[in-house]
Amino acid sequence: MTTNYDPIAEQYQRSKQQPWRTFVECFTLMELAGDLRDLTVLDVACGEGFYTRMIRERGAARVTGVDLSQGMIELAQKQEAAHQQGINYIVGDARELPVADEYDLAIAAYLLNYARTRDELQTMCDGIARALKPGGRFVTVNSSPAYHFPSAPSFRQYGFETTTIGDWREGTPITWTFHLEDGPFDIENYHLNVATHEAAFREAGFSEVNWHTPQLSPDGLKDNSIDFWAPLMENSPVAFIECVK
Ligand SMILES: C[S@@+](CC[C@H](N)C(=O)[O-])C[C@H]1O[C@@H](n2cnc3c(N)ncnc32)[C@H](O)[C@@H]1O
Repeated sequence: MTTNYDPIAEQYQRSKQQPWRTFVECFTLMELAGDLRDLTVLDVACGEGFYTRMIRERGAARVTGVDLSQGMIELAQKQEAAHQQGINYIVGDARELPVADEYDLAIAAYLLNYARTRDELQTMCDGIARALKPGGRFVTVNSSPAYHFPSAPSFRQYGFETTTIGDWREGTPITWTFHLEDGPFDIENYHLNVATHEAAFREAGFSEVNWHTPQLSPDGLKDNSIDFWAPLMENSPVAFIECVK
């Protein structure tokens, strides 16, 4: 189990090819991000740049990706070198973002669920709010703070499973096991509840906070039926949140 992405950067990159990522995660997040043309965008916990590249392709004027993992940033930079998009990738900690009032939009896919405590969550939210212009938006997807992971079913049909050990409380670790063709790998993140998130967003200076359930892309029905997707859509282990500064 790890929260250090350096040793699993390449496996994580391949897990982004799983159909649920494309037809649910990516579809919903990009719907929430909306029209990106001419915006300045900060991708926090950008990883190897999966969303960073997509945001630039969708017309953002200036895009910066920040991630704690040197290995993830190296993968992102390698792809930038092969297909130059003018994206700036930086190794950095979301809890100490060195920017203020610069961005129209901040996006973070699976960052907030690395906070183990309200204080850690608060420093992440404070930094992101600081990086936004007044009126700027923050769009994020995470392990759902509303989901009861100890009673999660198997999500093996989508290529992953989740497990928890011990009491279900603030900070309980959640292990996500991704199954790839050459075997599984694990990542660990942490549970903090909905009220904790709401309080952290408000204290950071977000005036509007909207929670969204996942949406299924119509393309997701080409190879799989609605019944296939139902367990993921009806009680989803991932939640999407949109905040306005
Ligand atoms: C599950 S990956 C998601 C990567 C990317 N957003 C994506 O969706 O492909 C989570 C990422 O969060 C990064 N991360 C965790 N804590 C962080 C922090 N405090 N500051 C910046 N990045 C962080 C990890 O290094 C990892 O690359």
